[in-house]
Amino acid sequence: MHSSLVALLVVFAVAFAAPPYDPAPRPEQSWLDRHESFVNNTLVNAESINVLFYGDSITDGWDNAGNPTFQEFYVPLGTANYGIGGDRAEHVLWRIVNGEVQNLSPKIAVLKIGTNNLGANNDTDIARGVAANVQELKARLPDMKILLLGVLPRTNEAMTIRTSNINDMISVLDNGDTTRFLDMKEHFYRGGNDFVTELYTADLLHLTAAGYAKWAEAMNPLFFEMFGQNSTNLIV
Ligand SMILES: *[C@@H]1O[C@H](CO)[C@@H](O)[C@H](O)[C@H]1NC(C)=O
Ligand SMILES: *[C@@H]1O[C@H](CO)[C@@H](O)[C@H](O)[C@H]1NC(C)=O
Ligand SMILES: *[C@@H]1O[C@H](CO)[C@@H](O)[C@H](O)[C@H]1NC(C)=O
Repeated sequence: MHSSLVALLVVFAVAFAAPPYDPAPRPEQSWLDRHESFVNNTLVNAESINVLFYGDSITDGWDNAGNPTFQEFYVPLGTANYGIGGDRAEHVLWRIVNGEVQNLSPKIAVLKIGTNNLGANNDTDIARGVAANVQELKARLPDMKILLLGVLPRTNEAMTIRTSNINDMISVLDNGDTTRFLDMKEHFYRGGNDFVTELYTADLLHLTAAGYAKWAEAMNPLFFEMFGQNSTNLIV
């Protein structure tokens, strides 16, 4: 395609993309089915869901590359992984308001969302989209704590400047108590174009098994402090 046409299409995509802070479903039937399976899981297993993971493909990957680490730390607590690959902030928001958290009483939600909005929205709107998810979770589950994770460094320096910019904006949601923000950037990225490559797949976006182990290592002290139990208690 001619580069000016590509540029025009990008401008149109940004101009007409749904705002990340307004709930929106995705059109694919497979996505609606996945959402429905989460709603079903919520209905059937409400009493044993103590932890919610919300996000996109990177969270979804706890079921794949991240599975050994997921089994070790989070399955024993009663964790529902509601990550779906490709989701943007507005898609998670739609899922939250459409039955996935009804009648639940989890202790904590881990939310990491926004990286898929980078192609469609500016950083300010992405931060608003992340904040809308935090607010919706708090409104629906007021007794639940929220551990909000920063968007991970990705792709190259330019993209990582944007993820850092978004993280600066959403970090203010940390109230020191029921909502905490954690930026894991330093564990995954050394500056410039220097990523800790063994933690990423070749696209420098998705994570390897080692990436999930590093995520757990970086997150667990705060996660277990908020959950109210430390991980050493879990080793049996
Ligand atoms: C969800 O549960 C309903 C009612 O039991 C069932 O009809 C439907 O097939 C389930 N959907 C999925 C995706 O499992
Ligand atoms: C971000 O995009 C929104 C709508 O697309 C626009 O109203 C706003 O001015 C933009 N903000 C910045 C900082 O570019
Ligand atoms: C962690 O667990 C150990 C062993 O049960 C306990 O001694 C320690 O006080 C706990 N620490 C925190 C911060 O809960």
